[in-house]
Amino acid sequence: MEKMRQWGWLLGSLAAMLFLVLFFVGDGNYDETTSPVRRSLRSIIPWQQQGVNLLTRTPKRVVLDNGIVKVVFSVPGGDVIGIQYKGLDILEMRNEESNRGYWDVVWSPRSIYDKIQGTKFKIITAKPDQAEISFVKTYDVSFGNSTVPFNVDKRYILQRGGSGFYAYAIFERLEGWPEAEVDQIRIVYKLQQAKFQYMALSDTRQRIMPRASDRDHGVKLAYPEAVLLTNPSNPDLRGEVDDKYQYSIENKDNKVHGWICTDQSVGFWMITPSDEFRTCGPIKQDLTSHVGPTTLSMFVSTHYAGKQVGIKFGEGEAWKKVFGPVFVYLNSAPSSTNNSISTLWNDAKQQMLEEVESWPYNFTQSEDFPSSDQRGSVSGQLLIHDRYINESLFSASSAYVGLAAPGEVGSWQTENKGYQFWNQADDEGRFIIKDVRPGNYSLYAWVPGIVGDYKYEADITITPGCDIELDNLTYEPPRNGPTLWEIGIPDRTAAEFHVPDPYPTLLNKLYRNHSENFRQYGLWARYEERYPHRDLVYTVGVDDYHDDWFYAQVTRNTGNETYVGTTWQIVFDLNNVTSPGNYTLQLALASANSAELQVRINNQSDEQPHFSTKLIGGDNAIARHGIHGLYWLFSVDIPSPLLKEGNNTIYLAQTRGGQTFQGVMYDYIRLEAPSSTPVVT
Ligand SMILES: *[C@@H]1O[C@H](CO)[C@@H](O)[C@H](O)[C@H]1NC(C)=O
Ligand SMILES: *[C@@H]1O[C@H](CO)[C@@H](O)[C@H](O)[C@H]1NC(C)=O
Ligand SMILES: *[C@@H]1O[C@H](CO)[C@@H](O)[C@H](O)[C@H]1NC(C)=O
Ligand SMILES: *[C@@H]1O[C@H](CO)[C@@H](O)[C@H](O)[C@H]1NC(C)=O
Ligand SMILES: *[C@@H]1O[C@H](CO)[C@@H](O)[C@H](O)[C@H]1NC(C)=O
Ligand SMILES: *[C@@H]1O[C@H](CO)[C@@H](O)[C@H](O)[C@H]1NC(C)=O
Ligand SMILES: *[C@@H]1O[C@H](CO)[C@@H](O)[C@H](O)[C@H]1NC(C)=O
Ligand SMILES: *[C@@H]1O[C@H](CO)[C@@H](O)[C@H](O)[C@H]1NC(C)=O
Ligand SMILES: *[C@@H]1O[C@H](CO)[C@@H](O)[C@H](O)[C@H]1NC(C)=O
Repeated sequence: MEKMRQWGWLLGSLAAMLFLVLFFVGDGNYDETTSPVRRSLRSIIPWQQQGVNLLTRTPKRVVLDNGIVKVVFSVPGGDVIGIQYKGLDILEMRNEESNRGYWDVVWSPRSIYDKIQGTKFKIITAKPDQAEISFVKTYDVSFGNSTVPFNVDKRYILQRGGSGFYAYAIFERLEGWPEAEVDQIRIVYKLQQAKFQYMALSDTRQRIMPRASDRDHGVKLAYPEAVLLTNPSNPDLRGEVDDKYQYSIENKDNKVHGWICTDQSVGFWMITPSDEFRTCGPIKQDLTSHVGPTTLSMFVSTHYAGKQVGIKFGEGEAWKKVFGPVFVYLNSAPSSTNNSISTLWNDAKQQMLEEVESWPYNFTQSEDFPSSDQRGSVSGQLLIHDRYINESLFSASSAYVGLAAPGEVGSWQTENKGYQFWNQADDEGRFIIKDVRPGNYSLYAWVPGIVGDYKYEADITITPGCDIELDNLTYEPPRNGPTLWEIGIPDRTAAEFHVPDPYPTLLNKLYRNHSENFRQYGLWARYEERYPHRDLVYTVGVDDYHDDWFYAQVTRNTGNETYVGTTWQIVFDLNNVTSPGNYTLQLALASANSAELQVRINNQSDEQPHFSTKLIGGDNAIARHGIHGLYWLFSVDIPSPLLKEGNNTIYLAQTRGGQTFQGVMYDYIRLEAPSSTPVVT
């Protein structure tokens, strides 16, 4: 290997001096196990099975070409400046070379947007079956804030017979480097505009998309990302809204998305076989593909969570993390196929499953990416103890169980420096989390239908090859007494509440009659139409939260763009009041954005609220059609003297105003009576 690298260097320098196109002669070692045979629609080209090299290099270019896909990189910057497949230029060749396929970072203190440019090119492997190349950007303290304080090693891999290429990068900070806050790290591909018009990110989320120029001719709505298409090139799209945030998805479901060129039946796909390197856990949402045509791989972002999840590095703080590998997959269907769209999408999904199956990859050459035998696993069964649901322990069915950096209960949803490993438990609450990188973790869980967050009391240390079997774990969710009433389902979203119909003049037709109807533009504004004079009042036992609890408690425009907070009421009847005793209001929020929720009991004009969340949240999930951002849980004591026999009212005042998108989304609200049996001390 070392020898080969030296050869690589020697030949590389020769090339630079002589301006010759050189062909690298691989060492001929063909290792069957490093080349998983993956077949779908791709054709086999005979000559490439005979060991012809995958890599060619000129002074300013390096080309990976296996006869199926050809990828051209700038040297030493390491931008992807061309991808050819089936005779088609996949990327937009009218864009500057630096604006086709690149990694970028948004970071402060100066809020800078940096495209990561390598300064050193290196061939890692050049064998007949696999080539791996590296573009390294190095930082030095003397650079100060002129460039992001990271060393970055961008890696690309092409395999013989593979219909696509792998991309990953190792980001590193060394001791002594200046402080920095990183709000975004991603890969961007900009596809040929004339060719790619159909976008797909799930079975039910795919459509013909507008062009970038259609947005330029449209009308900007409440924020620049949302545009009303007034004069699109495709007249069918006139009157629709385009907004890239309508195509967001939760990390756990963000495994394959991309574009189809319908006239040549070619697909371009971003396949992400694992979530381990993404921040903030399985239900954080992020962007996928959007008008451009653009395809993203988001590794770090503040979307749907807020500035608080930007990665903050203290002065001198060392850090290292591997993002990826992700697989850029290309496929094609015979042009005679009438249903080439579904053929290509189904094939892309199939390829995604194959990539997931072969995760963690064993062919990457960086020692920072551990292969499967260097990883460990943990398994167990999670049970729930909540005697007001069931006298005996019951299974945490379908619980999300994960390992993330050691921290507080629920801290995984803002954790952003380490790796996270999540899986869903079966009906019995049994879980297994495999392929975990060595290190120290806490084990966290949350259970759809159960309020709150679980954390296992001990830290878990994963070592290579370990197989940790935990005893039965028991989660005791927050609970002080029997349920008097509840509103919603404790599942961290507001999707079960009333999501209004969109404005017919502001539709995204994709989401008509769709399970994700909350991804329409402008729904927040329908609150004032439904409650023009008086804020929402919900009467327990009379109203139905599906219809009568609005999905978001937004501000009200009192005219002249003056936005004020709103106060909702829950009216409920008590036959009797247990006194003395404490009632408990379990108040779970699915999102908060520059909001303060104050709780008053039976007296709206009390100057001091009984409880306040204080100013919380910046996830912006209302404007981003997210139906949830970060999760918040408050257990509010209500001493019995505050309640009375007969009707009682809980006032929920969102007191902060000023802007349209301030407010909260509720996940679940429950009132508990005092414990029916005294607490034994
Ligand atoms: C494809 O569509 C054309 C026109 O609608 C039709 O004539 C043809 O039979 C279809 N072919 C297949 C294989 O379904
Ligand atoms: C894990 O924690 C143990 C005990 O606190 C410590 O000795 C060890 O260095 C830690 N390992 C890693 C990889 O951080
Ligand atoms: C774990 O719980 C299950 C279900 O309650 C029970 O069958 C099993 O015996 C328990 N295992 C241990 C080790 O306690
Ligand atoms: C909405 O979808 C449901 C279920 O797919 C279907 O039964 C119904 O007809 C659809 N309604 C409209 C207006 O398209
Ligand atoms: C509305 O706001 C504008 C700009 O702040 C101000 O000039 C105008 O007087 C306001 N109108 C009313 C009715 O308050
Ligand atoms: C008090 O009210 C609760 C809830 O309505 C009811 O279940 C309970 O039987 C009542 N207790 C008495 C003593 O009336
Ligand atoms: C109610 O809760 C408060 C604060 O937790 C506590 O001081 C008080 O003793 C409780 N009252 C009863 C009757 O349990
Ligand atoms: C409600 O609160 C206001 C302000 O603190 C107070 O003046 C009023 O007496 C209270 N009303 C009741 C019925 O307690
Ligand atoms: C409580 O309010 C409900 C609904 O407004 C009403 O029907 C009921 O009569 C009230 N109960 C009492 C005891 O005032």
